Amino acid sequence: MKFNTFEQSFDAFDEAINPPPEVTEFDSVVEEALSRRDFLSGLVSFGAGSFVVGASALNPEVAKAQRSRFDFMQVAANSLDTVTVPEGYSSQIVVRWGDPMYSNVPEFDHVTRGTADSQARSYGDNIDGMALFELGDANVLVNNNEYTNRKIIWGNRAGGQAETDDDVLKGMMAHGISIIEVTKRPEGWVMVKDSKYNRRITPETQMEITGPASGHRWMRTAEDPTGTICLGTWNNCGSGRTPWGTYLACEENFNGYYSSSDTNIERTDGQKRYGIPVDDWGYGWSRVDDRFDIAKHPNEANRNGWVVEIDPADPASTPKKRTALGRFKHENAEVVVNGDGRVVVYMGDDERGEFLYRFVSAGVFVDGADNSDLLAEGSLFAAKFHPDGTGRWLALTSKTTGMASQAEIVIHARLAASKVGATTMDRPEWVAANPNKAEVYCALTNNRNRAIKPNVGGDPTPATGPNPRAENQYGQIVRWWPAGGDHVSDTFNWDLFVLAGNPAVHSDSYGGSVNVNDGNMFNSPDGLFFDARGLLWIQTDGNYSDEGDFAGHGNNQMLVGDPDTGEIKRFLVGPNECEVTGAAMSSDGRTLFVGIQHPGEHGNSHWPEGGESVPRSAVIAVTRNDGSPIG
Ligand code: FEO
Ligand code: CA
Ligand code: CA
Ligand code: CA
Repeated sequence: MKFNTFEQSFDAFDEAINPPPEVTEFDSVVEEALSRRDFLSGLVSFGAGSFVVGASALNPEVAKAQRSRFDFMQVAANSLDTVTVPEGYSSQIVVRWGDPMYSNVPEFDHVTRGTADSQARSYGDNIDGMALFELGDANVLVNNNEYTNRKIIWGNRAGGQAETDDDVLKGMMAHGISIIEVTKRPEGWVMVKDSKYNRRITPETQMEITGPASGHRWMRTAEDPTGTICLGTWNNCGSGRTPWGTYLACEENFNGYYSSSDTNIERTDGQKRYGIPVDDWGYGWSRVDDRFDIAKHPNEANRNGWVVEIDPADPASTPKKRTALGRFKHENAEVVVNGDGRVVVYMGDDERGEFLYRFVSAGVFVDGADNSDLLAEGSLFAAKFHPDGTGRWLALTSKTTGMASQAEIVIHARLAASKVGATTMDRPEWVAANPNKAEVYCALTNNRNRAIKPNVGGDPTPATGPNPRAENQYGQIVRWWPAGGDHVSDTFNWDLFVLAGNPAVHSDSYGGSVNVNDGNMFNSPDGLFFDARGLLWIQTDGNYSDEGDFAGHGNNQMLVGDPDTGEIKRFLVGPNECEVTGAAMSSDGRTLFVGIQHPGEHGNSHWPEGGESVPRSAVIAVTRNDGSPIG
């Protein structure tokens, strides 16, 4: 994600506040680099100066011999302030930030950009994670509204800053989750205003805290001495869905909303590791609610950084924070039912040098039974990748970490994973599991600190294994196969599906793997999802300057990859200064819903309405003009 007011990404903001320690383990970094060289020399290496770790499946001769599974003409990279889709396809707007969800709410006002009250009953801002639920005859679309571009939502104020409490609350109400019914009319997909399913979940919605951290003393506050009930969710990035029909909203950069009225406050190790700041990132929430003041309410921030389970079929239901899945800067939550019925959830922690996690439920999924609490209890693991293409899930328990209880382990999952020596990753974003085989992918978006600095906890970040490039500005996608096809197994094999790069600029590994070329190049893979055919859709959140290292990449985009051949083709390009994130396919495969986040985050877009209009994040629907399935 990009962050507009200070022209810094969330992670850059974090790092400015919490600089990682200087590298002190230089010897071990050099040692790792040397062993990597040995490792690479023993593996498949092809293409002009590029390399792929392992992956005989990506051999271009194999790919050439197989017929492409993509039935569309690749879209050219571009820097147009519009959505570009392949010839024979169309896209339309379904819903935008600020569209009223009820008929008694005014339409979005481009001058005032609404009020706290109108925003609380209108679609939220900056669409991210997404899922479509087919409930009887109703299509219910659920979307995270990750954050708000302050200079845009407060663009009616001098300097783009909140002036009144209502301004601050309007910003707050733009966060959370929007649940709407959508329906297909002759003119296209539209929101059904006043549907019984329509619901806004905001930073003020009451939630239940479940799992090992529920009731723990670190979770108790003045407002909630039981440590079991909290208010709201925000900065929900990616998403997940369960086979029992619930939606998972994942809290990512939850920290930037806190501040301290005591500027001399001595922060704890836990607060430092999670980047809980003394000054918030400009949202000003402590001005309207002092639970965001860490000097007054030090435990409040322990009640964020979780996965939240929501039942879209019941608008009166209480969302549940699932603490068994760990507290970190969650990207998404990919749910797999293992062969033995246990539920496995794969999750990335999106910060430079943080970890990849796995949750395994204690109970088993039984179709038709009450599965509603399967995410309340289970085991948590962090991933260790060995440079030889093998890996292991390391259990996070009192025995392995020396930490006092499972409650402390889940609240400080990052500290626990550091203690067991998990692998520091290049910012794990979305995880996606192949529906047709036991194979899982994770987008490692980029990491300019790789081999330069340790992570915030001081863990080294050598350029090796699935994070092979120093100062990695392009990102890569790692995939792994659980041993024996068993997602509960503690071992796996891995390789890289793609190293993003720029073959027109670099002739070494920064040119990308062999399945990257002048026609399909991109940077910073982020959103991932599989369609029912087993094709991997890739969305990007990267550098859209189209210059230098990024020349030829154009705006952020969406591509589709074939796991069997490695072929990757560009399907869609977003408007200026946007990120393409969040997607859902209708069950008939004929509509692809896609999220367009923060168009014009630096002031250079008027998408989607054009003219001098305010740019607005929106969900679009992509269809094929002849009505046949997408792709
Ligand atoms: Fe919200 Fe990691 O992207
Ligand atoms: Ca991102
Ligand atoms: Ca984002
Ligand atoms: Ca993301």
